[in-house]
Amino acid sequence: MSNNKTFTMIKPDAVANGHIGAILDQIIKAGFKINAMKYIALTEQTAGKFYEVHKERPFYGELVGFMSSGPIVAAILEKDNAVEDFRKLIGATDPSKAEKGTIRHLFAESIGANAVHGSDSSENAEIEGSFFFSALEKF
Ligand code: RTP
Ligand code: MG
Repeated sequence: MSNNKTFTMIKPDAVANGHIGAILDQIIKAGFKINAMKYIALTEQTAGKFYEVHKERPFYGELVGFMSSGPIVAAILEKDNAVEDFRKLIGATDPSKAEKGTIRHLFAESIGANAVHGSDSSENAEIEGSFFFSALEKF
């Protein structure tokens, strides 16, 4: 499997706080090309399906409620070593532990409302990207 794509969402907290532009700017300046992008809202049902892998985790209900609480920006990003480089750019899940200058350090509010999602593998990037985008929407 090629490792040049990842999938991201700008989460409802960052959208509501007016950070879409600043976050996209960081992503583009870090060398990622936008392969697909849309402004969209998840429902409880679609958020539940997207995060099905976390179904047994104690925070699943909170996560699904939060991710369906407002619009998000979903995007497929392209760059060599995309998954790993993007996770470095966003920083740790808990923003209080995220390295200085990372997107979560700059824009996240809490471990739940943590500004952005980044895929954890190329395989999941493909699955997650296909959840939001058809072949006609990828460039
Ligand atoms: P993401 O999938 O959103 O990029 O985040 P991640 O890989 O860094 O973290 P993951 O373990 O996949 O968890 C998914 C999202 O669930 C929320 N979470 N809440 N309350 C909690 O203890 C807790 N733990 C995780 C976070 O919003 C996390 O991004
Ligand atoms: Mg994850």
